[in-house]
Amino acid sequence: MPGTLRDIPDFPAYVEGQTDHEYMAAAWAQGPLARNRLGIISGFSLANMDMINDDRWTRQLELEGMFISGVRDGPMFEFQRNALLFSNGQVHRNRRGPLVRSFATRVIAEMRPAIAARITSLIAPLRGAGSVDFVEHIAGPYPAQVIAALIGAPEADTSAFARHVYSAIRGLSHCSDEVRAESDMDMAELDSYVAGLIEQRRASPEADFLSTYLGRVADGPLSEDEIRAQLAALVLAGSDTTRGALASTVSQLLLHPEQWALLVQDPERWATPAVLEGLRYDPMIGSLPRITLEPREIEGILIPKGSFVAVSMLTALRDPDVYADPDSFDITRSDHPRLHPVFGGGPHRCLGEALARVELEEALKALARLVPDMRLDGPPVTLRGYGAVRSLSDMRVLL
Ligand code: HEM
Repeated sequence: MPGTLRDIPDFPAYVEGQTDHEYMAAAWAQGPLARNRLGIISGFSLANMDMINDDRWTRQLELEGMFISGVRDGPMFEFQRNALLFSNGQVHRNRRGPLVRSFATRVIAEMRPAIAARITSLIAPLRGAGSVDFVEHIAGPYPAQVIAALIGAPEADTSAFARHVYSAIRGLSHCSDEVRAESDMDMAELDSYVAGLIEQRRASPEADFLSTYLGRVADGPLSEDEIRAQLAALVLAGSDTTRGALASTVSQLLLHPEQWALLVQDPERWATPAVLEGLRYDPMIGSLPRITLEPREIEGILIPKGSFVAVSMLTALRDPDVYADPDSFDITRSDHPRLHPVFGGGPHRCLGEALARVELEEALKALARLVPDMRLDGPPVTLRGYGAVRSLSDMRVLL
């Protein structure tokens, strides 16, 4: 007989001073599943993560996250109503399909030189500048500018664009009324900016991503609101995640000088393994929530239909059944699964994986080449939270 929900322990009390990784490891030590104060059932292993990303018995949250936060309207609500990440089945396929080819590895590879030039232009002027906030001056602007350029924003607009993006994105998580109001204002700005770009390209098409995309969705099932939302989704999904991944990977490399030295000696050889390990060691996304569509037994417990389930990315990426010595940051490890789990799985697996990897690789190569003596000037970056997108602290480096 399988156990029931009653047999699942609650998450343990947080002990002051614990890191997120220590806290989640303590929750896992109680047993294979735990339940949080909202009733969400969390698993911890990589095998459980693969299981809950299977859309034959779970589905993505749609507007439930907004409802839980008490939000029922506004620009961020409308965005979620229309964006691919918060949809399922045919609606999701309609929204994702026209984007897929533009983000294929082969297509993104052609952008590598332009991406390398962009990160070089951010780092080069800072050489010898002394103490610099790495997040504010490098890790933040870089992905927002890359994605702004990709969707066709003129170069002069990319800095302002980045500011709207990082403000708007805060409204995707649970937040205060004040932050919600600011986020909604910036989301509205982003939406009307995207509307303007679309109008221009329709009037005078170019040989670029946006014109190709508009061609693919012309006369298709997507509404105008949906077309704008998919473009905004690229921008929002592609900025915060890459910003945190870059800051966190660089932190770890600088905390392990022998591994930073490997990268500096041979950036072409070590950039890719360093990116894979940085993404594993401290992921920007804390967990992937889903809703069950049918009852199923997990870890000996019968989970009813309609349950909220999630697996902690923090623990799955340190699963000792998959990774040797999982708490060590080691760019020389050879046990990464073929598909990196940090990008999720199933139909919502990250659309921007190839782009994120190229951005991160080119950033590490440029740093190793341009500022090989870079070192931390204060604490490393701290990623916080175990829900969806985690927050990050600033990080000063000496350049
Ligand atoms: C290190 C950087 C990144 C990480 C760790 C990451 C991670 C993820 C994960 C875990 C998901 C799946 C979410 C779920 O199943 O609920 C996802 C979805 C998505 N990502 Fe990324 N991502 C990154 C960068 C990017 C970039 C650069 C883009 C830009 C195009 C992007 C665009 C998207 C989109 C559009 C989705 C939604 C896909 C869908 O619902 O079908 N991501 N990402």
